[in-house]
Amino acid sequence: MDKMIIEGGRQLSGEVQISGAKNAALPIMCSALLTEGWNTYHNIPDLVDIRTIRKLLRSFGAEIEGEGTVVRVNAANLTRCEASYDLVRTMRASILVLGPLVARMGVARVSLPGGCAIGARPVNLHIKALQDMGADVELKDGYVEARTKRLKGANIFFDLSTVTGTENIMMAACLAEGTTVLGNAAKEPEVVNLAEVLNGMGAKISGAGTDVITISGVDRLHPVEASIIPDRIEAGTFMIAVGMTGGDITLKGCNPLHLEALINKLKDAGMDIMPVADGLRVARLGNIRSVDVKTLPYPGFATDLQAQMMALMAMGNGLSVITETVFENRFMHVSELLRMGADIVVQGHSAIVKGNEKLRGAPVMATDLRASASLILAALAAEGRTELFRVYHIDRGYQEIEKKLSALGADIRRVQA
Ligand code: EPZ
Repeated sequence: MDKMIIEGGRQLSGEVQISGAKNAALPIMCSALLTEGWNTYHNIPDLVDIRTIRKLLRSFGAEIEGEGTVVRVNAANLTRCEASYDLVRTMRASILVLGPLVARMGVARVSLPGGCAIGARPVNLHIKALQDMGADVELKDGYVEARTKRLKGANIFFDLSTVTGTENIMMAACLAEGTTVLGNAAKEPEVVNLAEVLNGMGAKISGAGTDVITISGVDRLHPVEASIIPDRIEAGTFMIAVGMTGGDITLKGCNPLHLEALINKLKDAGMDIMPVADGLRVARLGNIRSVDVKTLPYPGFATDLQAQMMALMAMGNGLSVITETVFENRFMHVSELLRMGADIVVQGHSAIVKGNEKLRGAPVMATDLRASASLILAALAAEGRTELFRVYHIDRGYQEIEKKLSALGADIRRVQA
């Protein structure tokens, strides 16, 4: 198992290319299951999770080819409709095959994803929506077993905003008989990207990006050539990295419109953020001011940037209250940040962060994808050496993060542990 070694205290400068969004690429690659023929996707990031979904799609009989950031998927000859536990347990987003498989094949057997470090992560809303559309859904031996002759359009209202729930049902509804209306739908840019791709396949979807999405079912979809949007969480992570170390970097290929909540907070914290052609220029010249943060569904502050923001607030000039409203256990990074000299007290869903000047390097352990990102950011600013273990977490969602950070001037390297 690899580890990262980071010598802190180096400012960042230069340009970094933002990769395609993991959380857009995953549902879009699953949408290939809805049709026959070759779909071509551009700007696919090279991540562990992408390799996992490729394996999963292949296990159904789909053909996959591609080099670099272009991936092609042909699901003409599906021979299997079961997503096994050994694959699903490594990536919860595998649940995104459920909707397309039921819609296309009338049957699906998908392992329940189970929880992860940040929470129980139930999929009850996905299941209830499919039942509302007429599917027989059973939970048996840890699997979701769903079958139907043909899904029927329905009026569905999600109890709470669920990103993959919205995506799963939006995909399923494309081939349903009649019209489906999704109320309280997730508004994330990744949902909008998926809707655009589905409409490019001949689907009839309107309202994506708002909390009411309408899908008029069609009999068939055709393959599409499409592009994945840039990864707003990777971009946000690099923006916060400059806040940690000081310096001035340009992020190429990111979309500032997807980052408004973070831009607003980082400006309040004293950073300079300017739109430039094809991205953003981000600088930190003075000290970091402490600000309060509350995570919310999009367009609110992204829960996937909460851990990274907490690392920044550990260097603030006062008190910051960070409240996590989306997941029930997303403060796993706190104990590791404390080992680096941060002053944080967790009270229920909030963490009270008392900013102080100096973080110190230490051996720390990654627990989940975004927590590992926050530890890398803390290490960039800390005095001395940090060794980060279990870096397989970071490889799930960041493409060559140590290479991108080194190119910006950080002293970070990956070694075999
Ligand atoms: C997506 O997860 C993202 N993953 C997550 O990113 C992200 O943190 C999350 O949305 C919130 O933005 C992908 O898109 C692959 P939810 P998802 O359903 O869809 C509860 C990362 O780091 N809920 O929006 O699983 C759930 O427990 C990952 O890239 C139910 O109760 O999240 C949570 O409290 C981490 N029942 C809340 O809703 C359900 O059926 C929001 O979850 C579904 C969800």
